[in-house]
Amino acid sequence: MKGKSLVSITDYQIDEYKKILSLAAEFEQNSYQNILHGHVVACLFFEPSTRTRLSFESAVNRLSGRVVGFSDSNTSSSTKGETLKDTILTVANYCDLIVMRHPLEGSAKFASEISPVPIINAGDGANQHPSQTLLDMYSILKTQGTLENLTIALVGDLKYGRTVHSLIMAMMHFSPTFYFVSPPELRLPKEYKQILTSNSIPFYEATEMQTALEVADILYMTRVQKERFSDPMEYEKTKNMYILKNSMLDNTKPTMRILHPLPRVSEISTCVDTNPKAYYFQQAQNGVYVRQAIICSILGLK
Ligand code: CP
Repeated sequence: MKGKSLVSITDYQIDEYKKILSLAAEFEQNSYQNILHGHVVACLFFEPSTRTRLSFESAVNRLSGRVVGFSDSNTSSSTKGETLKDTILTVANYCDLIVMRHPLEGSAKFASEISPVPIINAGDGANQHPSQTLLDMYSILKTQGTLENLTIALVGDLKYGRTVHSLIMAMMHFSPTFYFVSPPELRLPKEYKQILTSNSIPFYEATEMQTALEVADILYMTRVQKERFSDPMEYEKTKNMYILKNSMLDNTKPTMRILHPLPRVSEISTCVDTNPKAYYFQQAQNGVYVRQAIICSILGLK
């Protein structure tokens, strides 16, 4: 992993996933260390973020490294017409590693091809969000005790949800059964279903949540991604289709846990937050440990 960019979750092999998860567990025990002393990480966020940016920054700060960057591209020279290539080639002079979120699919791959320092893709449009996937896997492992043979229900915007796409690609290596619950307009793109079929991974598609709720080990709720719709009416039609309430959790497995990459809009009622099956805020906390593990692995410091 040393020196290697993390652009897509498929950049890592199964043993590399396992190494990251095991290192994250070490950081969870002791997340304040001096490992990154003398290192600088650049966080370039061309799109809004709360969890990803702040957990990357917290991960670096806790390990005594330094962070440079921007959280709003309007404060960068991209507003003057600077290209992404020039931005990356410039910022690479100031840091050891670049964490980048960008609205364009493929932007992280492009950056990794021209950058002299490794790139971590913190989300490229509707495409991939691999560090989120690793923290999702860590959360699944922590709550279920295994990654193997789990039934995973993914609910909401499966078309534009990059965290969904990355999670499916990673979990398919662990013999899952998937339930995909979405409005017809927001179904999982065909290419992901083709990959699952060619790997003999069972999956079911539905518009209702009921069946999936009864069998799921993990219920992965997602937000309908307003910013990805070209037609505002399509968004209005689908935005409130799924609202998880406590009463819907009565017949779920006792060990089932609810994950959500967040931010939430209306898809999980706030009354669920205190339900013992709700795990999304702990999931966000796990992001710090997993991102510490990713950064240290790429910099060859662990
Ligand atoms: N999960 C996630 O990517 O959240 P942010 O958009 O707040 O970073």
